[in-house]
Amino acid sequence: MDKLQISGGVALRGEIAISGAKNAALPLLCAALLTREPVTFTHVPHLNDIGTMLRLLEQMGVKVAREAGKVGAGDTVTLDASALDNLLAPYELVKTMRAAILVLGPLVARAGEAKVSLPGGCAIGARPVDQHIKGLTAMGAEISVEHGYVHAQATRLKGARIFTDMVTVTGTENLMMAACLGAGETIIENAAREPEVVDLATCLNAMGARVSGAGSDVIRIQGVDALHGATHRVMPDRIETGTYLCAAAATGGDVRLTGTSSAYLDAVIDKLMDTGCEITAERDAIRLKAPARLNAVSIRTAPYPAFPTDMQAQFMAINAVADGTAVIRETIFENRFMHAVELIRLGADIKIDGNTAFVKGVAELQGATVMATDLRASASLVIAGLVAQGETVIERIYHLDRGYEALDQKLIALGARVARLK
Ligand code: UD1
Repeated sequence: MDKLQISGGVALRGEIAISGAKNAALPLLCAALLTREPVTFTHVPHLNDIGTMLRLLEQMGVKVAREAGKVGAGDTVTLDASALDNLLAPYELVKTMRAAILVLGPLVARAGEAKVSLPGGCAIGARPVDQHIKGLTAMGAEISVEHGYVHAQATRLKGARIFTDMVTVTGTENLMMAACLGAGETIIENAAREPEVVDLATCLNAMGARVSGAGSDVIRIQGVDALHGATHRVMPDRIETGTYLCAAAATGGDVRLTGTSSAYLDAVIDKLMDTGCEITAERDAIRLKAPARLNAVSIRTAPYPAFPTDMQAQFMAINAVADGTAVIRETIFENRFMHAVELIRLGADIKIDGNTAFVKGVAELQGATVMATDLRASASLVIAGLVAQGETVIERIYHLDRGYEALDQKLIALGARVARLK
């Protein structure tokens, strides 16, 4: 299993290109299930989760053509779902990537049936899919949950008014996709406002759908009889962007990230400015210059546009070496502090009380061997390793390969001393 070896203490400097967003690309690829015509996506990040999703779609009968591009430029992927012959998402794939649940809505809408494994628990919490099921049921799908699978059937979905009990990103995306082929109007209230939802709506509309309100908490979808092919460029990854900004901030660096926008990152950029970093937003780039020592900043995670849970772990790492004490409250997932114990092994001073972490900045971290537990936890360990004195080895970096394109190459381009050990 690959490991990442980091010799810490180098301030990151230079310029790298940000990749396409994993969390936008995954639902977008599923949207291709909604039409018989080919759909082409550009700027698709080269990630393990994308490979898993393409394998899943292929198993369903989707023809996949993938043209590899340069790092940052992304791949071009064309999907042809004209013939769907297997409406099943098996446990083996869903357990490795929960986003596989995103095939449920498009399949039942287009093919009238879907059988998708329940994702079950994962390292960061229970993460149920009851809202996806509730919404599809309101649209007239017959749904049973048997032997660990959600089995949905419908002759044709119909428009419905759906109020989700909590803000759910993939839930909103699943229901929005399903409603595109329903009869009549669907209204999703308490919808997720994440930029990835907007990117999906833009693509669906390019395919002939009639979606309005994406980006607000009420999304209206007028169902149409069929969608057609389109070409869509995947939006930049705001979490990858935020992660490199944090890595630069923690190391006292000066980096310019291209092909990305500060527009999706207001909450994160605000907090980075509070740490004392200087940030310049350009039209398609962001530059960050860090002071020698950061101020601690407290954060509270919440749905977009508030501070993203996917940036919580990285901010724990930067607070570990900042001046002062930060209070970090996680309100989205119930078990998302697993990086804390690993950061403590590197010398961080962190106390956990339920969903709140108290992080008291220390003068320096020391390198050690640590274990990655989930995607963003791994990113926080990379940041900590980059600032720690001496050598840090991060085990189980397959988590990082799920969500960060060419992480080691990008860090090396910024001057970090990083090696992938086989
Ligand atoms: C998406 C992102 C993930 C991010 C998360 C929160 C993708 C592929 N993944 O995950 O990176 O961390 O949003 O921003 O886009 N919930 C229920 N019932 C449901 C659905 C959700 O109880 O039917 C709960 C979850 O357990 C969680 C909260 O709602 O506590 C938010 O989850 P959700 O927004 O659905 O996360 P994902 O869409 O899985």
